[in-house]
Amino acid sequence: MTPAPARKMASGDALAAGLPIVRRTDDLRAAVAPWRQAGHRVGLVPTMGALHDGHMALVRQAKADCERVVVSLFLNPKQFDAAADLARYPRDLAADSAMLAAAGVDLLFAPETSEMYPNDFATTVSVAGLTDCLCAKTRPGHMTGVATVVTKLLLQAQPDIAYFGEKDYQQLLVVRRLVRDLCVPVRIAAVPVVRAADGLALSSRNVFLTPKQQQQAPALYHVLRTVAGRLLAGGDTATELAWARTALLSAGFDKVDYVELRHGNTLAPQAHTEPQARLFAAAWLGQVRLIDNVPVC
Ligand code: PAJ
Repeated sequence: MTPAPARKMASGDALAAGLPIVRRTDDLRAAVAPWRQAGHRVGLVPTMGALHDGHMALVRQAKADCERVVVSLFLNPKQFDAAADLARYPRDLAADSAMLAAAGVDLLFAPETSEMYPNDFATTVSVAGLTDCLCAKTRPGHMTGVATVVTKLLLQAQPDIAYFGEKDYQQLLVVRRLVRDLCVPVRIAAVPVVRAADGLALSSRNVFLTPKQQQQAPALYHVLRTVAGRLLAGGDTATELAWARTALLSAGFDKVDYVELRHGNTLAPQAHTEPQARLFAAAWLGQVRLIDNVPVC
């Protein structure tokens, strides 16, 4: 179906590469309301920009499921634990808009920080339990920043379905839990990890890898796959997780934040390979932190 431009663009709105773009919640709601009244399903794909084919897989799934697709692009300061990481995060609105327009996205919501967090903004959404391990342990405040902004984006856009990648598996579970706990009327759809041909999970931060690091980075996935295979063959969990750390360091990684076996729904630690078990890892190549996860099945 050919997407029509948003019916009425409020003053101050712009077209980016032929894609309607709104910056304010009121304008977003004004664009989405007639779609909902017409009975169209609305899909939302939240992003922080610097789009790649992993993001576009979410967009393609949304296009397949929904008559209307909104993508949000907001570099959320609350989920960055280091100011330097936020400052250097890649930004390219022109390229992002062109990709989204070519994919037939109906609307880009790109709010300013002041629109999302006015000076007296005082609310945080914190999901207990799921956020005391993995990335939440090594990146304090990160998951609360994610939960807060995602709650806000869901309430702003009021989509029928919102799309999240399994690449950020813990984030996906946190979003599912907050939606359930707070009765947010939306379905959360999960999209499998999109990888380069060498196995590396696509990520906006991969642009920071040097040519040498680009060759080392796929080891993260391959080590996880090797461990998954060995666990399925009856390998001892502690032995294999310890081997994975050593293997990553040997492959050139500078630091390993974690390699863990956890339950794919609850994130409870798993001593043995059980149905739903999943391997999770985060490791550093120089200044670049990579994460990945694979099912053990
Ligand atoms: P960002 O890193 O831009 O990712 C946006 C969405 O794309 C997330 O749901 C993420 O899991 C998904 N994604 C990224 N790389 C992927 C890949 N290789 N395969 C599949 N999906 C992939 O995640 C965020 O932004 C933010 O935390 C956000 C949810 C937008 C809240 O600020």
